[in-house]
Amino acid sequence: MCGWCVRIRRRRPGGSGSGPPAAGAHPIPGSLLATGAGKPVRIRLHRRKLAQGQDKMDWRLKVGRQAVLARLPFGHGLRRAKRRLFGYQPNLDNLRSTIEAWTQMRQGLERAGGAIEGATVLEIGTGWFPTIPVLQCLQGAKRVYMSDLNVHLDEVSFTATLDFLRQTWPDDARLRAIRTRADLPLTYLAPFDVNDLPDGSIDLVTSRTVLEHIPPTDLVQLFKALRPKLSARGRMVHLVDHSDHLEHSDKSITKINFLTWPERKHAWVNRLTREGENRLRHHEYPALFAEAGYRVTLEEHMVHEPTRQLARSLPLQPHYAAMTPEQLATMASLYVLEP
Ligand SMILES: C[S@@+](CC[C@H](N)C(=O)[O-])C[C@H]1O[C@@H](n2cnc3c(N)ncnc32)[C@H](O)[C@@H]1O
Repeated sequence: MCGWCVRIRRRRPGGSGSGPPAAGAHPIPGSLLATGAGKPVRIRLHRRKLAQGQDKMDWRLKVGRQAVLARLPFGHGLRRAKRRLFGYQPNLDNLRSTIEAWTQMRQGLERAGGAIEGATVLEIGTGWFPTIPVLQCLQGAKRVYMSDLNVHLDEVSFTATLDFLRQTWPDDARLRAIRTRADLPLTYLAPFDVNDLPDGSIDLVTSRTVLEHIPPTDLVQLFKALRPKLSARGRMVHLVDHSDHLEHSDKSITKINFLTWPERKHAWVNRLTREGENRLRHHEYPALFAEAGYRVTLEEHMVHEPTRQLARSLPLQPHYAAMTPEQLATMASLYVLEP
């Protein structure tokens, strides 16, 4: 059995959990428009194949490299120039898992009574490859606001995303017809200021692997600020990766290695890299959502069984040592929220 897709717990108001996914279920629908509705949900994150040697980068080396890159003068401009000159080859497995993630998010949204069709969408933290916003447009969103802390997306990464989607759905005429970003109802807001959005203008807020990068107090502040921006049908759907992201490229550490660090060390690593995760566990998010004025209308999560088994043997910090192995080993969550 795949270590990632071990257990999914589902909670709906007034409903009970559903069983595990059927073996062999594949979340990418054959048609770009299909939701794959009826197929079991399977939360799967960062299960990408790493090139030989890529999984051997010591996490300390990675932190050092990120610390230097984050401080390079004109670093962002240099990276853009490099992309324009030499093109950009995205990690295809990562893009594929992004499509799967959006399929799961859309299924969750629909089960909670929402829909992408006709919706004005705000995506928080679009990143470099706007896979999800392009799919949302093609699946009927009226407009998609892509947003980010800083400018990451450019025409090179947009074209790379489009090429990948065309390879995935070679028969889709609409994908073939897109030439530039302007051919889709897309708006890029970076650096993002929530005050730029008119009140009542957003039907759906989405994010994938973003909330874990936002400190808890900032998360509450952002979600509070977004509340008046939501329309009467306003909803949110968020997919969160709770794993230690340094483990993605250093398989010698556990998926919850960062829970063994004192707060000072964790803050220090985040300061060095100018990013990092908040270490919030799955069950700690709903209280923050409630503080910001939202209720969870659908929630699904995935427990990583090998981590559940070894959790008790790790030298965890007291805050985490008080949690159950299942809480510690919950590696991915899907939340659908309503004000
Ligand atoms: C791991 S990347 C995910 C990118 C994209 N959502 C995806 O699935 O490929 C995290 C993204 O979140 C953005 N981000 C982090 N904190 C944010 C915040 N407070 N507000 C908006 N975006 C944020 C980062 O700039 C980055 O683009």
